[in-house]
Amino acid sequence: PHPTTAAPTASSPPAARLAERAPAKINLSLAVLGRRADGYHELSSLVAFAGAADRLAYDPAGAPGLDLAGPGAATLAVEPDNLVLKAVRELTARVEGLAVGRFTLDKRLPVSSGIGGGSADAAAALRLLARTNGLAPDDRRMFEAALATGSDVPVCLYGRACLMRGRGEALTPVALPRFGLVLVNPRIPVATAAVFRQLGLVPGERCRSVPPPPTGFATRAEVLAFLTGMPNDLEPPARALEPSLGEVADRLAGTPAVRLVRMSGSGATFFGLYDDCRAAARAAKLIVAARPDWWVKSTIIG
Ligand code: C5P
Repeated sequence: PHPTTAAPTASSPPAARLAERAPAKINLSLAVLGRRADGYHELSSLVAFAGAADRLAYDPAGAPGLDLAGPGAATLAVEPDNLVLKAVRELTARVEGLAVGRFTLDKRLPVSSGIGGGSADAAAALRLLARTNGLAPDDRRMFEAALATGSDVPVCLYGRACLMRGRGEALTPVALPRFGLVLVNPRIPVATAAVFRQLGLVPGERCRSVPPPPTGFATRAEVLAFLTGMPNDLEPPARALEPSLGEVADRLAGTPAVRLVRMSGSGATFFGLYDDCRAAARAAKLIVAARPDWWVKSTIIG
């Protein structure tokens, strides 16, 4: 049996205070280099984390499981394939005697939208379990449980701007200046596997190589110059599957002072980069006015 948690006192904060942010992951660039023998695609992607996030609260003394809350709760069901529950299973399988309590997910990011909401939630669950079970954040079993949960979970566990390679397991830090960011999702869920399949690569097939990005960018202009030659290779197949995504890109491209418009991950979320958060807020307002039915979020990145 697990040790019981003492009732909160002045010196021990209430367990409900245990919580982690689960920030959206943005693929600033995403090159598909080929398809590996194991069927996964080999990627090279510049990844950064946005100010927009889900929030995962944790009660170590609660019955093991997951509750949903927040604006996105209705778009999600607690099922075994939920990435929080999958991450818990993967870490439990690797750490003997792992104590598991109850998670409450405050779901704010759109589901199946290319910004890694589910992966960020899974990474937050792993961090909470590490904290409450005395595991070091760099414990190898954390990384292994993350990768077994999903290709984007290791980068979310890492949580800082980096170059992501392989299927998502090779991470190198990259220094990035700050941008204003607008995220736009047309509330069309996109299945990642279908977008990759649309590329039509067979296992073992190579399609391109890309030069490695610098280890850091000093200015926004340097980032933009790099990104201009480095699109998201999943954008054409996603747009072929879902032609209405063209309007999302066009609306962002029509906002004043936008520096770059691109899709994140396998979509359908597109993002715009701006010099500051004031320009981003102004752009978001214009898009909300035109399409009040879309999910639009103005925030920062880098
Ligand atoms: O790893 P994850 O379960 O998140 O991947 C979902 C699906 O996306 C995989 O089953 C695969 O079809 C595709 N995928 C891929 N190459 C990657 C990541 C994902 O083909 N690097």
